[in-house]
Amino acid sequence: MVKVITYGTYDLLHYGHIRLLERAKALGDYLIVGVTSDDYDKTRGKINLQQSLMERIEAVKATGIPDEVIVEEYEGQKIDDIQRYNVDIFAVGSDWVGYFDYLNEYCKVVYLPRTEGVSSTEIRTHERQIKIGFVSDGEERVLNKFIDESQYVNGLTISGICSSSNSIKKYASEKVDFMTSDYEELLKNSDAVYIISHPRMHFEQIKQALTAGKHVLVEAPIALTEEECKTLFELADKNNVVLMESIKTAYSTAYNRLLLLVKSGKIGRPVSIDATCTSIRSIESEKDYDKIWNSISAWGPTAVLPIFQILGTNYQFASISSLLLDKKHMFDAFTKVDFIYNNAVASLKVGRGVKSEGELIISGTKGYLYVPAPWWKTDYFEIRYENQENNKRYFYQLDGEGIRYELVAFVKAVIQGKKSNYVSQDISLAIAKLMRQYQAGEIHEL
Ligand code: CTP
Repeated sequence: MVKVITYGTYDLLHYGHIRLLERAKALGDYLIVGVTSDDYDKTRGKINLQQSLMERIEAVKATGIPDEVIVEEYEGQKIDDIQRYNVDIFAVGSDWVGYFDYLNEYCKVVYLPRTEGVSSTEIRTHERQIKIGFVSDGEERVLNKFIDESQYVNGLTISGICSSSNSIKKYASEKVDFMTSDYEELLKNSDAVYIISHPRMHFEQIKQALTAGKHVLVEAPIALTEEECKTLFELADKNNVVLMESIKTAYSTAYNRLLLLVKSGKIGRPVSIDATCTSIRSIESEKDYDKIWNSISAWGPTAVLPIFQILGTNYQFASISSLLLDKKHMFDAFTKVDFIYNNAVASLKVGRGVKSEGELIISGTKGYLYVPAPWWKTDYFEIRYENQENNKRYFYQLDGEGIRYELVAFVKAVIQGKKSNYVSQDISLAIAKLMRQYQAGEIHEL
């Protein structure tokens, strides 16, 4: 019996895939098809698949062509599979010519001509194009990353940038055709906006976009009080548009695995969480205090994310201590927040004028989870126990600091009209509550 194996993603199964499977099967008597898992696809740069692994497997099975379907999960698996299943022929489309020649050592490699004129990428791109406009008056570095990362996301095109900042205009005009300082004009040209203006501007800008029926992705915090945040979510619901809070860490694969491991009891009952995020930011003049995000708004939402996602938002008490550089604008060089829960405690430290070790530690009754700095770009963590032999290390590739995956989640939410559950509404509300408490001066000054 001649055994043939082939691999693919098979997203939105199309005619090209079916023809390939038929020809692969015709090369022998038994066809094994490896469908790539979502995680493995991410490491290969395929990030915005429309279908889940199960859906893709079902679609491949439903063609009735394969005799067996397996999942491809890791680099190097092809060699393992060929040996384990006693494969005689490895077949793949001609877009891979030469790439798999190394498998000749294990079996015969056949490149089959690719069907012209059809691909999953093309179907995904044509399905729907969302025109996204960027709104920014500072924070160029983050804006630049979003501009660059959006190139990787099918279904997303940049409609323009609204900014009054000269440095942004200068940089972005090389990458984006339409520049304006008129927000209304940007909204007219867009289906959605990504807002990274100063948090004090968020409420009005989000309201205006939602009222105009545009979807909104906004750099956290959404707003500076829970009332404003609630009003905006209600408006989004009423107008049937998406309002999503942007915290890139929430989209990292490693961060999501870490949450699942803690929730499934790997460290026992979580008792204490410590999260630190700092980055020194130079303040050149008095005016900067008005423009630059303070420490609590720039870092607070990220630092508090694991606390709220693991311990919940129902804390009994939060005490805030800050080192203020400018009282008028409530500009903090450093803030520490201590949360008291019924059965746990947590603390976060954020700074734009104080530097510390940016690590995350989640302590539990059986062991603790440790994420080294910079923990918010999560790609590696360890679970550590009293008996070191039981320690475990985890690594998951993170591309584009999570921004790429975040944009994919936003596009999905817009197309499917579904809320994304990476940062849930109750967490956005709790973040806004913390901002309100800080802005209202309910703090201990250092
Ligand atoms: N294939 C083909 N003809 C096409 C598209 C794909 O023969 N028009 C083959 C590929 O060469 C590969 C298999 O089908 O052997 C699975 O391809 P996959 O990467 O899942 O599909 P694509 O449509 O190429 O996906 P994408 O656009 O995301 O790269």
